[in-house]
Amino acid sequence: EKGTYSHFMLKEIDEQPFVMRRIIQEYQDEHDQLKLDQDIRGAMKACDRIYIIAAGTSYHAGLVGKQFLEKMAGIPVEVHVASEFSYNMPLLSEKPLFVFISQSGETADSRSVLVKIKEMGHPALTMTNVPGSTLSREADYTLHLHAGPEIAVASTKAYTAQIAVLAILAVDTAQAKDLELDFDPMQELAIVANAMEVLTDQKEAIETLVRENLGTTRNAFFIGRGTDYFVCLEGALKLKEISYIQAEGFAGGELKHGTIALIEDGTPVIALATQENVNYAIRSNVQEVVARGANDMVFSMKGLEQDTDAFVVRHVHELLTPLVSVVPMQLLAYYAALHRDCDVDKPRNLAKSVTVE
Ligand code: F6R
Repeated sequence: EKGTYSHFMLKEIDEQPFVMRRIIQEYQDEHDQLKLDQDIRGAMKACDRIYIIAAGTSYHAGLVGKQFLEKMAGIPVEVHVASEFSYNMPLLSEKPLFVFISQSGETADSRSVLVKIKEMGHPALTMTNVPGSTLSREADYTLHLHAGPEIAVASTKAYTAQIAVLAILAVDTAQAKDLELDFDPMQELAIVANAMEVLTDQKEAIETLVRENLGTTRNAFFIGRGTDYFVCLEGALKLKEISYIQAEGFAGGELKHGTIALIEDGTPVIALATQENVNYAIRSNVQEVVARGANDMVFSMKGLEQDTDAFVVRHVHELLTPLVSVVPMQLLAYYAALHRDCDVDKPRNLAKSVTVE
């Protein structure tokens, strides 16, 4: 039910702080200890490499999750687009673990990889919002996203739930392997939930940005470095799928290798700046596009902000910034679609679950 909301997408964007809190609760026992299935712990400890398989937004969540699993749990990770996996099958490690990320649990491209790797005898874990789904039933292990039903075709709360559960999986594995973390991840997730909640109260500011910068544009670019780059890919996907504005996410450093040729007077360029180690570099990329007439909108994080930034999100742990910075990207897409009278919840040519290859 939409309740007082005009669209499921907006409702689902707003639910994200609650989803974060639900995930924290669902994965902790009464002593605040993580309570992941022992079998999953065993599989995580036993593997020498993780292969994440997913499509679309879930693939973008996988790119973020790779960092958690490598940095916190010390396991090398490859992230693959499901539909490409069989053509470009990598040379597998000795003890691979396949992790399928899928909101619906029904994506045919992912399922065909699952069938193939099961035939090869490899273990599989599915992270899904629908525990009884095909990908969940056919895998050895399942982690539930606890996002609640996602109705809008454009995925929002499932993306942030996927990232949060990937973080929990990484933390749990780190603990199982007796690896020290220099921060309290569950505490940091709670801080993220609060930061998200503040954002859902700042819709008017985002709507104004859309009106002023994305009104009649035919295209838009998203640039970022490091983790921000992955969020740029997701921001661009959201914008194109519901507003039909041609949008692309680029790594800041790649601009000069080609894309900068497309920057003209008034071209909207959305830049993400939430990472201290790349703040200087991404800001020089912004200067480069502004010098060529771009209409810049910088989304930064408290502590790294500059006066000219379009929007500043609250400070959260540097590994978890995608959970927060994606919210204004989702809202940008929402208002851009709304202002163009697009069917926000049911964009043309798209289905909620893609059951054909
Ligand atoms: C984008 C979107 C799609 C899905 C993709 C995978 O907003 O919803 O890109 O993320 O089709 O779907 P699942 O996660 O159900 O496997």
